Amino acid sequence: MLSFHNANASIGNIPILRGLDFTIPASSTAALIGRNGAGKTTLLRSVMGFTNVTGEIRFDGQDISEMTPAKRPALGIGYAPEDRRLFSAFTVEENILLPAQVAKLDAATTKQRLDRVYHILPELKEMAGRPAGNVSGGQGKMVALGRALMLGTKLIMLDEPFQGLAPALAKRYADALRDLRDTDQNVTLIITESNPSLLRGFASDTFVIERGAVAIGSLDDKKEDA
Ligand SMILES: Nc1ncnc2c1ncn2[C@@H]1O[C@H](COP(=O)(O)OP(=O)(O)OP(=O)(O)O)[C@@H](O)[C@H]1O
Ligand SMILES: [Mg+2]
Repeated sequence: MLSFHNANASIGNIPILRGLDFTIPASSTAALIGRNGAGKTTLLRSVMGFTNVTGEIRFDGQDISEMTPAKRPALGIGYAPEDRRLFSAFTVEENILLPAQVAKLDAATTKQRLDRVYHILPELKEMAGRPAGNVSGGQGKMVALGRALMLGTKLIMLDEPFQGLAPALAKRYADALRDLRDTDQNVTLIITESNPSLLRGFASDTFVIERGAVAIGSLDDKKEDA
């Protein structure tokens, strides 16, 4: 569903990702594991169109490497960046709705997507009217997940979602991802992590990224680092 063919990505003139050649299967829960600075965020940002890419990135069979970033979310791609980037003066619900407005979803579709978000993350409904600036860091991660769900009908990319979450919230977050998986078996999930033990028993496919190169791996390969 998402594949890289001899793809390289640079930021400005600095080459970061090199020789990417792998496929993330449809409907998988893919773990992208790598140390700090390995290139995880750059890989997700490359799918969103925020880097300079040579070679091909194919999404559902279509080469998207030349597509402008603004058009990509409408393909059904949701993205929760590492830093949550919530608009603190807007309410939680307004933050969740923002991608739908940018993608110009009609009112009925927007309502249906919002209901899906509240079904999977009912706690967001309770916080809906609060300014996003007033929620805790962990709750903000949930809001960012909800926002990614609005457009992520085919692919959802979560950049180190468990980073900095207290254990109770990390468990809640993992449960929400399982609910998402149960509700929607077709969606493909990509979750990055520097600590592979967090995704053990969760990921169906594992990719290991080191110094900008990706290898198909297993979480056990990296056990000694956990
Ligand atoms: N804006 C930038 N300009 C130049 N180099 C950058 C930029 N952003 C990232 N890099 C470099 O790209 C490489 C990959 O960084 P990236 O942020 O993708 O790694 P990461 O795996 O997400 O790391 P982390 O676990 O710290 O989030 C690093 O060597 C980093 O220094
Ligand atoms: Mg990163």
